[in-house]
Amino acid sequence: MPCTIVVGGFYGDEGKGKVVSYLAWRDKPYAAARGGVGPNAGHTVVFEGRTYKLRQLPSAFVSKDTRLYIGAGVLIDPKVFLREVKETGCRGRIWIDGNCGVIEEKHIEEDRKSKHLSGRVGTTGTGCGPANAERALRVLKIAREVDTLREYITDVALVLNEALDSGYSILLEGTQGTFLSLYHTDHYPYCTSKDTTASAVCSDIGIGPRKVTDIILVFKAYTTRVGGGPLEGELPAEKAKEMGILEIATVTGRVRRAAPFNFKLAKRAIMLNSATQIAITNIDRMYPAAYGIKSYDALPKRAREFIEKVEDELKTPVTMISTGPSVEDMIDLREEKLS
Ligand code: GTP
Ligand code: IMP
Ligand code: MG
Repeated sequence: MPCTIVVGGFYGDEGKGKVVSYLAWRDKPYAAARGGVGPNAGHTVVFEGRTYKLRQLPSAFVSKDTRLYIGAGVLIDPKVFLREVKETGCRGRIWIDGNCGVIEEKHIEEDRKSKHLSGRVGTTGTGCGPANAERALRVLKIAREVDTLREYITDVALVLNEALDSGYSILLEGTQGTFLSLYHTDHYPYCTSKDTTASAVCSDIGIGPRKVTDIILVFKAYTTRVGGGPLEGELPAEKAKEMGILEIATVTGRVRRAAPFNFKLAKRAIMLNSATQIAITNIDRMYPAAYGIKSYDALPKRAREFIEKVEDELKTPVTMISTGPSVEDMIDLREEKLS
């Protein structure tokens, strides 16, 4: 598919990193770009026995020939960005837009000191909210003004639109989840500092909606949330632990609150994103016998019944089912379901 967007359907941490890295590894797109808020995100990629927790770089880095980009709407923390370039060995094939906003130490301090932000909203403390506030005031520094970022700067929107016009395929990665959107949450102010839907990813990168061919919405087989705000059907931590679904957050190390899969929210997420496909992750944590399985028929019966219920209720095909944290732990039904 020439232009595919991957976004989260619940409250972030659905496993977008896993899904994007699988797609890159399998399909080897010409280019991949990250949209979303910035280094508040933590995308976990488990590849060739190593675990990467990417806060800035596109998870598609696992495909060695794929060119990597970060769109103009994404905030850059130069320290985090440069550390990840080194860690992944991507220097020479990663570029950022000159218009990316820049997070400075003062934004991180403000985020962490603010009772409203870190106390009430429960932010990640990475400076994203205060930096986006300055962006709205038009006083925030942008990437082209920062010396250490100079060699990475390009016109991301132009490069990617030209790639699409030349018939190359590109993979776009969102961050956070639909219901952390600044606009599309029912729980304001318990949300992030920007929209997080597929439309926002287009705008972050500079690709018009007409060029998008596929929108893959990622859900976990259950729901998790970190930070403040309501979580319908929230399970006591003890119960979540017993069920094997108690998780620790990638960026902040906090415990992720957990609840059963929420069909009502999922339906709304399908609508808000115009999703064309669904990817379900962490099926093995709900149904341990699913771990590492690569074919649908080999899944335990209750896992298959869950997938059928998801398709039935959401009227959208489940084209990928992730059965473990590693890139290759995936049941890929795209050929079967889309032809
Ligand atoms: P944000 O942009 O921060 O929302 O992150 P994300 O959607 O990329 O998810 P994140 O990596 O923070 O969290 C997902 C967690 O689930 C990580 O620890 C992954 O390694 C893990 N994971 C993803 N898919 C699977 C799976 O199918 N099975 C298991 N067991 N773990 C998985
Ligand atoms: P901020 O984006 O750091 O301002 O945090 C605002 C809210 O969004 C808090 O509840 C965070 O826990 C949540 N949040 C932000 N980014 C992520 C993410 O990548 N995964 C999960 N939750 C996130
Ligand atoms: Mg995360």
